[in-house]
Formats: sequence, structure tokens, C-alpha cells
Amino acid sequence: MPAFRIGKEKPASVACDVLAVPVYKGGEPGPGGAEVEEKLGATFKELLNAARLKGEPGDALSVPTLGKLPAKHVLLVGVGEKGSGVDAGRKVGATVARRTGSATKVATTVPQALKGKAPEAAGAFVDGFLLAAYRFDRYKNGDGRKSKTKEVRLLSGRGWDARAIGRVVDRASVVAEATMLARDLTNTPAGDFYPESFAQEARRIAKGLPLTVRVLNEKELRAGKFGGILGVGQGSDKPPRLVEIRYRPPGSKRHVALVGKGVTFDSGGINLKTDGLDWMKMDMAGGAAVLGAMLAIGRLKPKVAVTGLICTAENMPGGGALRPGDVITMKGGKTVEIGNTDAEGRLVMADGIVHARDAKADVVIDIATLTGACMIALGDKAFGVMGSRQTDVDAMLRAADEAGERAWQLPLYDDYRKKIDSDIADIRNIGDRYGGAITAGLFLREFAGDTPWMHLDIAGPARSTSDEFETPKGATGVGVRTLVRYVESQ
Ligand code: BES
Ligand code: MN
Ligand code: ZN
Repeated sequence: MPAFRIGKEKPASVACDVLAVPVYKGGEPGPGGAEVEEKLGATFKELLNAARLKGEPGDALSVPTLGKLPAKHVLLVGVGEKGSGVDAGRKVGATVARRTGSATKVATTVPQALKGKAPEAAGAFVDGFLLAAYRFDRYKNGDGRKSKTKEVRLLSGRGWDARAIGRVVDRASVVAEATMLARDLTNTPAGDFYPESFAQEARRIAKGLPLTVRVLNEKELRAGKFGGILGVGQGSDKPPRLVEIRYRPPGSKRHVALVGKGVTFDSGGINLKTDGLDWMKMDMAGGAAVLGAMLAIGRLKPKVAVTGLICTAENMPGGGALRPGDVITMKGGKTVEIGNTDAEGRLVMADGIVHARDAKADVVIDIATLTGACMIALGDKAFGVMGSRQTDVDAMLRAADEAGERAWQLPLYDDYRKKIDSDIADIRNIGDRYGGAITAGLFLREFAGDTPWMHLDIAGPARSTSDEFETPKGATGVGVRTLVRYVESQ
């Protein structure tokens, strides 16, 4: 990861591989641009016109300086209309990262062009930069696309408070690193990442941080009557786990529980999937988001107690697997009729939610790649939010917005509850063809009891089919940034 430093140099005098300067829509130079235009002997407007660019966020044009400036290249970076804010900041940060990957040293005045408080704008730029520079290279012999950037100098503008900006930049780096951890785990094939791997990762990140880890193995899960996690795991040779990561700062008044779905591979079980099986290594993205959030929380040290729970199992169709029609007894004693073994996420999550209640959390938030129906409803670039109290949901939507992640509320209609009635057990794990994201939410609500609870269905945005600004193709690490923001807001 590159280091971000605040520099006081004049843009036209800084020695670097790439000097990234802002240009507004239409070609007017942003901060630092006029002196660069003068040295280059060409206006940004002329240069943009020749390249048929407008100066929108996402536009960038590399110009060799041929010794006219100490910088080897100038990168004109479109920032859109004057007065573009934090969202544009993230996009232009991502654009600069994607266009400077082969440069060791980058300097930039781009954050100065963004409206809003200087620290926030710089934070958004850094956010976008770091998240876009990500590559998953574990299985590549020599990846030429990996970013070589070691240092990014943020050249300071008028009225910049270096200490305040330093703090925001540090926070952005912590959260970006946590997001990249979630991406790495989610991109890892299920052959190399299984329930015990979550336990190992949790122990690894807790080292040197105020986090304590407890892992329940199969025997302990049986003793604790975690029927949902055990049921889903019983068709696999890889035993299930419940991974608990605790953060308990002194003097905290509130306790948030984060429960993540960690199905390391979802074959569907006996209701074997026919489509999209190659995605299903990513069915642990919710668990990875919780792990990433706990890493960031351990470093940022908010004054809120947090319990991270990862309900992890592999859903396979082995000889011991759950059968459609089976009835299982969940943690807490509720019985569930298995209508479909592919509706496994809600089974592992229900146990985790009950465990979080037992741990006396004030609010339980679960995050899961739970339903294809949520992707049908919202598309693949937004996650669904449901919850038992509107004030909590509002706080979550606000956290997502501030974090730059797209979220949308879905309703929990009481009269839909009868869709998941069972003839022979307390509840059934599937509804009918319609409103599948909602019936999944209603299923989980049953297990939250009176404890305030929220549910984030990330099935869509957990994975991206293309590189898009700060979102890379593959696992996105969605949820980490929102969860960290939410916890900090409590
Ligand atoms: N892991 C899937 C949901 C999913 C689908 C995530 C596509 C990412 C992309 C979940 O376990 C599942 O299989 N859900 C079923 C539920 C159905 C059987 C009621 C679904 O959505 O089809
Ligand atoms: Mn499934
Ligand atoms: Zn699943």
C-alpha cells in the first residue's frame, strides 16, 4: 500500500513520476493547473479537446513533460463541475490510481479541487485511490498489473490543516486495508478457504490489537445446540465453526453485534444448484465483511463494544447432508422444516443472531449474501437493508451513504410471514416464488426476538462483473466501510 504524505511544494517544482492536476468540466484548470499550463506551453482546454475529453470524473489524460517540469508526466484529471464533492473525490481518486499504477512517486493537487471540508475531500480521494489500486494476485506468477506506487504526495491548499487531514487519511487507509482483507478472503477459492480458515484469519488479525477471539468447533457447537450451523455443515467433509471476535473498550455504553454469513461454498446441498456455482466461493462475503470490520475497529478503537460473529459452514451434498423435508432444532429451540437445502444462509445466521442476543448486544446487525431475490429487486450494485426499528435502519442508510456504498431499504410486511408457515414445525426455510428477500428477512426476524435487529442482504454487490472506479472486478469487500461507519456513529 502506498504511503500518503502531505506536501507543501509548488506543483510545478515537485519531482515525481506523475503530477496529477485537476481540470474542471470544459477545460478550466483546477488548483495548481495554471502554473502547469504555463510551463507546458499549452492550455488544459486545448489538451482535453485534442483527446476528445470533457473533464468529467473518470476522464484522465497523460501528458509527457519532456523536461519542462521536474515531474515526468502530468496527468490531467477531470473533476466535473466546480463544486463537486466527496462522491466525485472517490471517483477521481480511483481514476488517478488506475492511471498511475506504474509510477513509483505520485504528487497531486486534485483533492484541493473538491468542495466540502478539506479533510473529507482528501479522505474520499485516498479511499478511492487505495480501493482502486487493489489486485488479487495470490495465484498469479508475476502480475504486471500490480500497482508500483510507493508514495502519494497530497500537495496542500489554502487553509489546509495538516493534522486534521493526516487523521482522515490514516482512517481511510485503515478502512481500505480492512476492505482489501475482506476482498482477499472472498476471492480465495473454496478449496483453499473453508470454515477453519476463518478461525485462523481471526486469530491472525487479533494479534497486537485489542481483540479477543473464541472459536467454537463442531463438538462445542453440538454442546451449544447450534442446530442451524451444524445442519448446514453436515454434508461437508470440512467441519463448521462459529468464530467470535470481541472488542471491549473501557467505558463503552453501547454493544453492537455484527453477524456474518460465512458459507465458504454454497453448492445448494441436495437441492444442488445448476447455475452460478462458480460464484459460490463468495458466499462467505458477509463473514469476510465482519472480519474486515473487526480489523478496522481494533485499529480505530471507537468507544463502542462490538462482538463480531462469523457463522461458517460449507453447504455440500454429502451423504450426511440435510434432506428437503428434514426438521432441525435451532439454537434457542425453534424448529425449522427444510423446504430447500439451498436456503442455508438463514439457517446459519439464525443461530448467530440468537447467540448475539444471548451475549446481550443492544443491537444485532447481520450481513449475508442471502438471496438472489434481493439482486432481482435492487440490481447488483446495491444491498438491501431491513430492520425491526426505523431509527436503526435510518442510521444504517446514512452510514452507507457516508461510506460511499449504495443501500436501499426493503419492507418487512407482517402479512408475508404466513408464506413461511410450516405444517409440521415452527417455521419453514422457504416461502413462495415472490418477495424472497423479504421472506428471508422475516425468517431471521423470528430469531431476533425483542432485540433491535437489522439485516443487510449483500448478494448483489458482494461481487462485481467489471472494474468500476473504486470497485474491482471480483470480490468488492462491500459492507466493511458501512459497518465501520455505523459503529463509529453509535
Ligand atoms: N447464496 C445464495 C444466494 C445468492 C445467490 C448469493 C446468487 C449470491 C448470488 C443463497 O444461499 C441461496 O441459494 N438462496 C436461494 C434461496 C431460495 C432457495 C429460497 C436463492 O436466492 O435462490
Ligand atoms: Mn444457497
Ligand atoms: Zn448461500
